[in-house]
Formats: sequence, structure tokens, C-alpha cells
Amino acid sequence: MDIRTVATTPFTDQKPGTSGLRKAVTAFQKPHYLENFVQSIFDSLECVGQTLVLGGDGRYYNRQAIQVILKMAAANGFVRVKVGHRGILSTPAASCVIRKYKTLGGIILSASHNPGGPNGDFGIKYNIGNGGPAPEKVTEAIYARSKVIDSYKIVDANDINLDTLGESKIGNMIVEVIDSVHDYQELMESLFDFDRIHQMLTSSNFKMSFDAMHAVTGPYARSIIEQRLGAGVGCVQNGVPLEDFGSGHPDPNLVYAHDLVEILFGEYAPDFGAASDGDGDRNMILGRKFFVTPSDSLAIIAANAKLVPAYSQGIKGIARSMPTSQAADRVAAAMGIDCYETPTGWKFFGNLLDADKATLCGEESFGTGSNHIREKDGLWAVLFWLNILAARQKSVEEIVREHWQTYGRNYYSRHDYEEVDSDRANTLVNKIQAILPNLKGKKYGAYEVDYSDNFSYKDPIDNSVSTNQGIRIGFTDGSRIIFRLSGTGTQGATLRVYLESYEADKAKQNIETQQALGDLINIADEIAQIKENTGMDKPTVIT
Ligand code: G6P
Ligand code: ZN
Repeated sequence: MDIRTVATTPFTDQKPGTSGLRKAVTAFQKPHYLENFVQSIFDSLECVGQTLVLGGDGRYYNRQAIQVILKMAAANGFVRVKVGHRGILSTPAASCVIRKYKTLGGIILSASHNPGGPNGDFGIKYNIGNGGPAPEKVTEAIYARSKVIDSYKIVDANDINLDTLGESKIGNMIVEVIDSVHDYQELMESLFDFDRIHQMLTSSNFKMSFDAMHAVTGPYARSIIEQRLGAGVGCVQNGVPLEDFGSGHPDPNLVYAHDLVEILFGEYAPDFGAASDGDGDRNMILGRKFFVTPSDSLAIIAANAKLVPAYSQGIKGIARSMPTSQAADRVAAAMGIDCYETPTGWKFFGNLLDADKATLCGEESFGTGSNHIREKDGLWAVLFWLNILAARQKSVEEIVREHWQTYGRNYYSRHDYEEVDSDRANTLVNKIQAILPNLKGKKYGAYEVDYSDNFSYKDPIDNSVSTNQGIRIGFTDGSRIIFRLSGTGTQGATLRVYLESYEADKAKQNIETQQALGDLINIADEIAQIKENTGMDKPTVIT
């Protein structure tokens, strides 16, 4: 085996964010940029004799990066790499494969929902042996290494044919091109009542539409929903992964998944609609002319979990990220189980899942999942909803409205201000931070501040502490306003304002969301002086 040691110099900007290292494709194309980061990952692990999982969401540069990583894996002593067919592995499928074959970990190439193509973004993240995103101590070790790295190792070899299943070799290392869908589909089949869902999807009175947004879930949804569950050809829209996602923005929300939204709100709307993001871990759930917020979706999944075979014995606990609405807390309280509040980022659920303290997890950012893997899982959420619908034989809207009547409604919305100048965004946060100690007891119309802090989390398993995770302003009636800067953007800063109010009165649960939250929206602006501090007079995205 011809191992070459290549001299390099460090890049200063290889600090992994909320979910790995994400940069413009052009940044990754700089000589040694990808190699430096990959070597920094390998240097933080004991690779010799180990197996690695490798795949990505199919975006531009996926195939090139895979060839480089394979040659570096061989040079660093891995004995086997399981790589997805055509380089494709969704994030949840990668997590599933890592766990099933007990590999050292996996490298997933994705910038999630960020646009792709030569002018889009690329990303790389490392997942550990439990199948979940590397915890901070690992990402910090990788970052520390990236700042001092002076060489990387690579084997001189021909490219591997990723289009044919089976094994080949680079030096002593076996490269196994695996079916991207098989293991994942088997796992889904073990969790849900496929027969019941099949019956519903093949009956003449249920129609659904799934939008893969030209991203990674296409092959998964076609195999599972169209073929195995019988929904039939045509149910999955935009089902072929494209390197530039068809010039789209593969983020399943009301703004970017507008094609699907038009279908579900149109004249001949089907009963159910869903979409997933670039790498397949996010989901959006729609009923006929009805949008289910991710926060409500988590609460409803929890409340109905016993209808799904894998969760029929009940759930141990629920975990949600701090900005996610408190709807799930009410379900947990009714069930007598714990509800954990963690910082934003799926990695914070890992310990709770491993310790079996939480069974279901969810985030307002269209992420839902469970202990079946260690990532959020878009298709899993869709199948969960299909299982609930098949068991309850009611519409999405009926199920959600009944849920509100039982538990009360948590009105919820997120306002994003994208591409704000970073200095201005930091100044805004510092200004709010400065007034936080004086807010308690302060009245804004009918609302009185109960507490205000910058969220800090102590992991109950390993006692690690994460500070400065977002500013929370809680009111005495349970309403909340949260300010947080996004950890996933690649251009400037994105200010996220999360708004939540609670309504127990059944007669007041049908107000339009922005209207119901109107007072809180004004209070948020009064506290943070958003217009003045960002120079923007309205949010760029409202979800
Ligand atoms: C990624 C992570 C999620 C997280 C989200 C937050 O999608 O996988 O776990 O919730 O980023 O993004 P933000 O831009 O709000 O930091
Ligand atoms: Zn994603």
C-alpha cells in the first residue's frame, strides 16, 4: 500500500458548528481543506483495525469527497468502510448502519437543508459509535487538532466504483458499497405496523403526497412508502437526489416546501402530506389544508405512542430542545414521565437516549426522533403519523384539534432574521443580556415577566455544562419569548425569535397563529429593538 504523507498548514476556521463543519463548496475545494479536517477527525480517534460508515446526501462534491476520504481511511488504518450506494446515505440511515454493525463511527457528508451545487454549501460531520453526532468533547478535540495539523496521510489508489454494490479494496482496506436503503427499511419495518399502514394506503379513501425535495430521502421514500407500503408510483415527488437539489432549498417548512404546501392547501388536497430535508433527518407534517407545528407533532406522537408497536409498552421520557414549545411537557406531565429541556442540537439528546431516560425527542426546527437511532429521523416521523392515522381513522386536523382540547394549545411561531451583520447581531444579544437581570416582575400589557436568563444546561448523565444557549424570557402565564443566534448559518448571523403562548380555553384555540401571538411579537421587538438593531423591518422567514 502506497501511503503518502502530505505536508499541510492549518486552517483557522474548522470549528464544527451545531452539526459538523459547514462551508461553501468553494471553501472545501481549497487545496488540503477537506483533507486537513478529515485527518483531524482521524487523529482524534483510534482508527487502526476499525470499520467506518461513509455516505452523504448526494449534494455537489459528495462523490469527490468520498473518494478522498476512502483513500485517507485506508492510509489511517481502517480495515473496512461501508459506503452508501452512489455515495448516498441519509443521516438517519447512517446512524442506523453504525449501530447495526457496531462500527467505530461514521462520516456523513451533508450541509443538511442548506442549498447545494457548485455555489452552494457542503458539510462534513462525524458520528460516534452510538450512531449519534459527536459530543462537544470530540468536536473540540477535532477542532484543536485542526489548528495544529501539519500533515495528512493518503493512499495513492484508483477511485472506487460507487455505482456497483459489493466489495473492493484500497490497499489492505475493504470498501463495501452497501444498499443505501435496506438496513434502514428493515429497522422501520420492525417499529411500525406496516400491514395496517399498507391497508390504509391501498384503500381508495386515503391519499398522500411526499416531497423529497430532490434530496436524499427520494430512494428511501420510494422504496418504503411507494413500494412496500403500497402508496404507488407518483406519491413521492422530486424523488431523485440531485447535486443541486434542483436549485431548491431542501428545507421542509412552509416557505421552502411551497410546492407541497400548494398541493395540500389546493382544491384536490390529499389527506396527508410530508416532506424531508437535504439529508433526511427533518420532517414537515401536513394534513388537508392543515399545518402541524413540529412542537405539536412531538406532543401528539408522544400522546399516541402506544398505538405504534415499538412503543406500545409506553415511553420512558420525552426530551425537547429549549426553544421547542412546551406542548410535550403537558403530555409528559399527564403520563407521569419526565420531560427534559436541552440546548438546541440533536447531540444533546444522545446521553438521555443512551441512558434510557428519554424515548422520544423533538425540536422546533422540524426534527423528531426516538431511541431507535441517535439522529432525528424524517421518514420515521412520517411513518409514525401514518401509523397513528391508520390506527385512529381520523384526519390529521381532527387529531390535532382533539389534542388541543385535551391538553390546551401552545400557539407557536419562529421569526428568523437571516444574514444579519454578525457584529450587529452580537450587539443585539449583548444588549438584551445586559437588561436581563432587571426584567423580572416587569409588565408588558397583560404579560408579566416571571424569569429571564441565558439558558444553561447541565447534562444529567455526564454533568457537562453548556452555557449561553439562548435567551429565555418567561411570563407568569407560561408564555415565552426566546432569542437565539443560529449555529448553522454560513453567511452572517441569523437571529431567531421563538414565540409561544398557551391557551387552555377551547373557544380560543382557533385563532390564526400570528394574530394569537401578536402581543408577544410586539413585546419581543420592544425588548430587543429588533428593527433598530438589525436594520430589518420584518423577519425573512416565519414558520
Ligand atoms: C441542525 C441540528 C438540529 C438543530 C438545528 C438548529 O439541524 O441537527 O439538531 O436543531 O440545526 O439550527 P440553528 O440554525 O437554529 O442553530
Ligand atoms: Zn438535516
